[in-house]
Amino acid sequence: MRTQVGIIGAGPAGLMLARLLHLQGISSIIVENRSRDYIENRIRAGLIEDWAADLLIDVGVGERMKAEGMLHWGINIGINGELHRIDFKKLVDKRVTIFGQQEVVKDLVARRLADGGPLLFEVDGVSVHDMTSQRPKIRFTHEGRAQEIDCDFIAGCDGFHGICRPSFPDGVLNVFERDYPFGWLGILTESPPPDHELIYSYTDRGFALYTMRSPSISRLYLQCDHDEDIENWSDARIWDELHKRLGGARKLQEGKMLQKGITPMRSFVVEPMQHGRLYLAGDSAHIVPPTGAKGMNLAFADVLVLSRALDAFYKSKRNDGLENYSASCLRRVWYAQRFSWWMTQILHRFPHETAFDRRRQLSDLGYITSSPAASTMLAEQYVGLPVI
Ligand code: APR
Ligand code: PHB
Repeated sequence: MRTQVGIIGAGPAGLMLARLLHLQGISSIIVENRSRDYIENRIRAGLIEDWAADLLIDVGVGERMKAEGMLHWGINIGINGELHRIDFKKLVDKRVTIFGQQEVVKDLVARRLADGGPLLFEVDGVSVHDMTSQRPKIRFTHEGRAQEIDCDFIAGCDGFHGICRPSFPDGVLNVFERDYPFGWLGILTESPPPDHELIYSYTDRGFALYTMRSPSISRLYLQCDHDEDIENWSDARIWDELHKRLGGARKLQEGKMLQKGITPMRSFVVEPMQHGRLYLAGDSAHIVPPTGAKGMNLAFADVLVLSRALDAFYKSKRNDGLENYSASCLRRVWYAQRFSWWMTQILHRFPHETAFDRRRQLSDLGYITSSPAASTMLAEQYVGLPVI
């Protein structure tokens, strides 16, 4: 097989890249090792930044998001049960959209297939070759047959556990990472959320987040131990803890649990995000703790930068965008890393924290909920910095 851009992975990064390239008249082939059913039903976060919602609309996959997504013009921060609203409309005049990531993936897959593909599911043994040559190659097995794709460029959109990042030669990558000594226990439930907007709740019992997928489906998270066994959490214990961490300002309605699981928390970045003609995008290059819900948005930002660079290469024979790809992405990646780390560290309980640390968190929370300058700082980053 022959294509201009070989894309490994059909997550938000790979699928959005394929759509952007299609609109620019650049050919691509996507190879994905899971099934279509699996990637369309994998539950992830569901918050789309202001510019990213516009991007989905601009590239023609925003119809369902516009009809079914929920526009939020603010969030609530709970401080030991007392709610404080951060008003995005007033502070930065931007919104976020609540719409599940797997719904975005469904719409991008449908669009890709309508564009004529190719999008190969359930491939095995993917490997990349000759990445420093002009003709890098992807090899894999599909439906029992060994295949090779001859590419001009390869986009490594294969997530944190993919093969692209480990294929970089030794010594090329610098790794920056931080583990957190807790995780999030998340449930999806058939019950209305306690407020029409999100509640980030700081309490002495630990952090909790009350978010949603629709007016009748809630997505609720509890800070838990990093090695927590989900078996230790009966439905009754989860509800009890969710009630306690919400406090009295809102009522939490219980409902049927549709799903429960534990989300790990980690900050991770590799630099550079490119070697030869292999370009990493999205989770393959960086992950953030879920506190700021930046994961999918960062993936879109990377591939937007990459698609512009490839467009300049093919249309104007310019290499500068490709040469600057890593530096351009990393500037934004580090803003999002800092923001996600900061949100995480002001809201959670830490194992070895001191009374000083708790007072400092309360002071940070007091500041962002009372000073217009500080709440604007939060709002500007929460709704998403534009991709420039
Ligand atoms: N070959 C082919 N595909 C692979 C391989 C491989 N060796 N390894 C992984 N994949 C696929 C995965 O099955 C997945 O569908 O690559 C895709 C990567 O998608 P994501 O993990 O969704 O990553 P990305 O597209 O960068 O999107 C980032 O998704 O993971 C969430 O929280 C994250 O919201 C963020 C967003
Ligand atoms: C979610 O809806 O899953 C979600 C929203 C906001 C976050 C994290 C997760 O900060």
